[in-house]
Amino acid sequence: MSNRRNVTPNDLSAFWMPFTANRQFKKAPRMFVAAKDMYYQTSDGRQVLDGTAGLWCVNAGHCRPKITEAIQEQAAELDYAPAFQMGHPKAFELANRLVDIAPEGLNHVLFTNSGSESVETALKVALAYHRVTGDGSRFRLIGRERGYHGVNFGGISVGGIVSNRKMFGTLLTGVDHLPHTHDLARNAFTRGEPAHGAELADELERIVTLHDPSTIAAVIVEPVAGSTGVLIPPKGYLQKLREITRKYGILLIFDEVITGFGRLGTPFAADYFGITPDIMVTAKGLTNGVIPMGAVLVKSEIHDAFMQGPEHMIEFMHGYTYSGNPIASAAGLATLETYKEEGLLTRGAEIGKYWEEALHSLKGERHVIDVRNIGLVGAVELDPVARQPTKRAFAAFVKAFEAGILIRTTGDIIAMSPPLIVERSHIDTLVETLRGILKTLE
Ligand SMILES: Cc1ncc(COP(=O)(O)O)c(C=O)c1O
Repeated sequence: MSNRRNVTPNDLSAFWMPFTANRQFKKAPRMFVAAKDMYYQTSDGRQVLDGTAGLWCVNAGHCRPKITEAIQEQAAELDYAPAFQMGHPKAFELANRLVDIAPEGLNHVLFTNSGSESVETALKVALAYHRVTGDGSRFRLIGRERGYHGVNFGGISVGGIVSNRKMFGTLLTGVDHLPHTHDLARNAFTRGEPAHGAELADELERIVTLHDPSTIAAVIVEPVAGSTGVLIPPKGYLQKLREITRKYGILLIFDEVITGFGRLGTPFAADYFGITPDIMVTAKGLTNGVIPMGAVLVKSEIHDAFMQGPEHMIEFMHGYTYSGNPIASAAGLATLETYKEEGLLTRGAEIGKYWEEALHSLKGERHVIDVRNIGLVGAVELDPVARQPTKRAFAAFVKAFEAGILIRTTGDIIAMSPPLIVERSHIDTLVETLRGILKTLE
């Protein structure tokens, strides 16, 4: 008898859930069955206010009709076209619309299916670029402690989260890391960019000198680190990284998987900080989280360097079966139109002040050792329970879900990043519900 017959309907055991405490979840499942705008609906019929835009991706809010219709129409018209040696119009159109809103100079787009794949793609473009320009000794990649660049081998190698790395052997060789910039002793309760820590970028000079500039291909950082708890760069820090990378001919890669598409109140973090990287990694908000898709934007000089040799030859040996998939492209186009029509890529700048005031009113609540914010992102850091890291914040997460708000936790940090359509009343609900929960935490 086939195993299939023994499967109990609704049995939760087969699905090994990603980045989830599986045993805890399956004892007390938290299920969403529907969503609209700012709210999820749970399987027991409750409304849950989305304080995290899903997983930092549903920037325009849930089930937006334009995006839903675009997907439906595309699925009925052209479901799939081979991604290699064939094309379809919407992928080209989406690449053009992305270039239109991207920082000046980022004129070419490679499509992927996730943030992790965008990171791998960016690292490979960087290495290959140096090789095609006759600089193939540049093989080293520099990431940063507490950086998150997805879960594939390149990403965890340049990433700096120990628990994501330690199980997986030697990873990529030739990788070094900058120190992280999180400094509660000097910067706790800062609104926006912290004052202290720009000098941490000078560590790049030390690393570059140690290995010799001629061996370094690229530096990759998140402009604002999201997944490790909203680590906002100190004033002047990213500018310094740009100066040092430029001085030594090293490519600067911004991982904008979280910061892209309006999260900071500008289209990209590159706009917020006034720095153009050589390569920009995106995903998540590109399709409003609805269909898996990522995009890597590169400067013309990088793209152009590959366009040589016989014209019938493939210039870059890389790509995915679903790169620029028609349905994802249609979702991306409808998403960008929605952002444009509703001014969502800059809405964070309008409502960001209210968000900041509301969040910082949590200073002084029990266990709160920091509150920080930028654009429409914020974090509340809690004092960990002695010898039981993550326990306090996880308790807050579960209580928040029960109380009707979705927050996210990493370690003992509560992170919030609501859809960009958030109104003041939603912010009040998020913050006041969280305040109530903080009061009850052990
Ligand atoms: C900065 C950054 N890079 C990469 C990723 C990986 O994206 P994905 O989960 O789509 O692979 C994430 C996901 O949170 C991210 O925050």
